[in-house]
Amino acid sequence: MARVITEPFKIKVVEPLTVLSRAERERRLIDAHYNLFGLPAEAVTFDFLTDSGTTAMSAAQWGAMMCADESYAGSRSFYRFEKVVKELTGFKHVVPTHQGRAAERILFALTVKPGTTVPSNCHFDTTRANIEYDGGAAVDLVIAEGRDPASEHPFKGNVDLVKLEAFCRENKGRVPFGMTTITNNSGGGQPVSLENLRGVSHILRSHGIPFYLDACRFAENCWFIKQREPGQFGRSVKEIAQEVFRLADGATFSGKKDGLANIGGFLAVNDDGLAEEIRNLLILTEGFPTYGGLAARDMEALAVGIEEAMDESYLEYRVATVRYLAEGLNAVGMATIKPPGGHAVYIDAKGFLPHVPPAQFPGQALATALYLEGGIRSCEIGSVMFGKTDESGSFIPAAMELVRLALPRRCYTQSHVDRVIEIAAEVAARKSAIRGLKLTHRPKYLPHFTARFAPI
Ligand code: F0G
Repeated sequence: MARVITEPFKIKVVEPLTVLSRAERERRLIDAHYNLFGLPAEAVTFDFLTDSGTTAMSAAQWGAMMCADESYAGSRSFYRFEKVVKELTGFKHVVPTHQGRAAERILFALTVKPGTTVPSNCHFDTTRANIEYDGGAAVDLVIAEGRDPASEHPFKGNVDLVKLEAFCRENKGRVPFGMTTITNNSGGGQPVSLENLRGVSHILRSHGIPFYLDACRFAENCWFIKQREPGQFGRSVKEIAQEVFRLADGATFSGKKDGLANIGGFLAVNDDGLAEEIRNLLILTEGFPTYGGLAARDMEALAVGIEEAMDESYLEYRVATVRYLAEGLNAVGMATIKPPGGHAVYIDAKGFLPHVPPAQFPGQALATALYLEGGIRSCEIGSVMFGKTDESGSFIPAAMELVRLALPRRCYTQSHVDRVIEIAAEVAARKSAIRGLKLTHRPKYLPHFTARFAPI
């Protein structure tokens, strides 16, 4: 295979990259209380905090935005957006929302009650928080391989179907719906196979439980199905995606990932009664059902972006870039979750910093070290995000201590990635000097966004 990745686009608009001095980065880190979410973006050189909303849009998207119809009700742009989503998903009702978690909040407010429980492969932090906020329990039923960073299983996002069947039987009457996250972000951006999705659909339907997809990276997931699942290579990513959505009763969707847009999302369902309730709730906080918290130009960007995300030369380049980054990090001694996922590389910080115990947040320590060394912004997915304290006040660490480098879509080139690997090598060379952190402030919900830390 070619070592050089040819980005399947040329660049029409450019944005300067800032490179600060090390002393300046040190000062910024202190000002941000060692939480990289607190940094101004202009203090960052390589921003891998998230792949969400950070896409470089295409000329076709910008062009469509100029043609948007900003009418309050019945905008032409809504109908265009709705047509694209219906053709892809087959869902009867498509409700635009300002982003994915708005779709989650509305769906869950109507279906999750205290005492209910919602299974998924792994809930993303916003779905978990929204379910818990409504008094429900969010339960992860990913296969055992999905929790083993070294396993090369091709579909580590799969749901454990035996556990799901038992879960549905044991919680009869308490499961308002089941979910599957494609790709499984909290478990390393790992895909779910078509066979597994068929199995989830079958089990949930046999128990009369609706099935919703958390579908924000559907195109990457379907690319992996095409590449890895026997019998799927001859189909287009779009055909596979069309089948995937038709296995479900609805979906929550953040258009900030595989919508290739900077903002936007949707909630789509087949149930007529539920759709009416959704639209009523939407009007309270998001807006009228033909714009749902978006400008019409955002719906235009999504309508074009959803189609572009299924372009197979784009998907090939994207997945190759993620793999290239993972292999480069592995070569300098940072183990990553295997195999590399679709949108991000997840470094095993516990393995890399064995001298920093989980209670001192090795993921956060590594993330801050990568920033200090070369201005890389990444995101801890470990005990900052998922750690808990029990009734006795003792600390319960997360299952894994990861640092995620999420690649914005179509933003960085292979030479940027080469520089990132050099910075990682510099961090690896002096890793014994990296110290742990202690929390100085922990908010109640979604602590990773605003928690504060100090070095130990
Ligand atoms: N579901 C998954 C699997 C996600 O990864 C995200 C967002 C959401 C739902 C919520 O969507 O941000 O549009 O409200 N993930 C981003 C990330 C924030 O960095 O992984 P949103």
